Amino acid sequence: MKPTHRLEFAIHYSLFTIENSQFQNDVTKPIQLIRAVKGTRDLLPSETSVWQRVEEEARRVLASYNFHEIRTPVLEPTELFARSVGTDTDIVTKEMYTFQDRGEESLTLRPEATASVVRAYVEHSLYNSDRLQKLYYLGPMFRRERPQKGRYRQFYQIGAEVLGSESPTVDVEVLEMLFAYLGRLGLQDFRLLLNSVGCGRCRAEYVKGLRRALEDVKAQMCADCQRRAETNPLRVFDCKVEADQPIIARLPVILDHLCLECRQHFSSVTQGLDERQLRYEVTPRLVRGLDYYTRTTFEITSGALGAQNSVLGGGRYDGLSEILGGPPTPGFGFAIGEDRLVLAVESCGAGPANGQAVEVYLIWMGHEALKPAAKLARRLRSEGRRVELPYDLTKLKKAMGIANKLNARFAVIIGEAELASGRYQVKDMSTGQQEEVEPDRMAGFLRDRLAPGEGDGVGSLSR
Ligand code: HAM
Repeated sequence: MKPTHRLEFAIHYSLFTIENSQFQNDVTKPIQLIRAVKGTRDLLPSETSVWQRVEEEARRVLASYNFHEIRTPVLEPTELFARSVGTDTDIVTKEMYTFQDRGEESLTLRPEATASVVRAYVEHSLYNSDRLQKLYYLGPMFRRERPQKGRYRQFYQIGAEVLGSESPTVDVEVLEMLFAYLGRLGLQDFRLLLNSVGCGRCRAEYVKGLRRALEDVKAQMCADCQRRAETNPLRVFDCKVEADQPIIARLPVILDHLCLECRQHFSSVTQGLDERQLRYEVTPRLVRGLDYYTRTTFEITSGALGAQNSVLGGGRYDGLSEILGGPPTPGFGFAIGEDRLVLAVESCGAGPANGQAVEVYLIWMGHEALKPAAKLARRLRSEGRRVELPYDLTKLKKAMGIANKLNARFAVIIGEAELASGRYQVKDMSTGQQEEVEPDRMAGFLRDRLAPGEGDGVGSLSR
């Protein structure tokens, strides 16, 4: 922090505390509850286990295709999104959280991460590496949309980008990876919608024709479309206004106007998908709401979701690196809406694996039992076991009740008699069977009866 910033911060902070203390001293005012900002949510422990499973499975599948994680800041210069996503898009014109950073530069909470990944690629000259960059990310994005089920102002994406190849095999392999991933999560009812939006050359020709077609009909369209018809006619296809849809349905589509190279690229993609038996539906009006796309665009929708049924979207963006000042670099990627994916996974009954139940509930009876109980807990935890050690002395009956409520697999009881004999009681909570086990044998005893713990490097969600 610069000294001037530190001073400003101190002034702001003290003003805040003065206001706050005045407010707190005013006993006549009821204390208002502070709630999460509209469109943002707390994900409580009862929900996060599905999120963890979705993320762990994603990391596993991405690693198997040799993708590596990249983490970019949530805050970016506004210019980054204006230049890449496009100044006529809904995201940039209506949805970004943008603010002036104390009169310095304009900053924006990232509405998506492709622009950030390509910015980082250019900034750190990752193009100098002799290999393709296969990068992935997970994290929050921000768009000021009207909140509803599956649409939030802070939402989460799991995304991946391949930088450095224009081969249609990239498109096919990434789509195959997505099918594998959704399959592993138990999602069945999904459709891949596929299109090509051409390259700079053939699209420019097509857009001229589209502009002409819009001349005749734009007066009957919404105000946004009238503006788009002038500034960026392709964005007319993003229109959600019901009355405009029959007009949009009659407009020429880009797929009929691709140049030879783009046509060949698209047919290689569909051929590759056919060879790998991945089903798709060619959807000629799928242009997606971001300006950087070239050639392949796609979305996967899920029947398990309502109005917001697009689980993920992506495509090619062969000119983006140049737009951001980098060398010509083809790119292809996708982003999954994690909030929506979680909803879809939950609704098809493929909930979390039971990796989060307590494995061992350690009951210590009498203060002299706490030390050996804590020692055993530490040992088992170091093996990745999920262990609960009560903080307070509790009667046996009550402790057993808690172990039951926690769905613990085993209860280990350490009391006076166990300390004297050097053998602890171990109760299998599902069968009620009880055995005596020496502390040094405990880890092995549990290993024989439970799935491997995290400490074995296998992960607690082993299925
Ligand atoms: P996008 O289509 O804008 O693409 O977003 C991808 C996914 O994020 C959507 O399919 C949806 O599931 C989810 N999503 C978008 N907005 C919201 C929201 N307000 N609430 C909940 N979920 C939402 C991109 O972001 C591109 N960066 C994808 C990409 C990567 N293209 C190439 N590489």
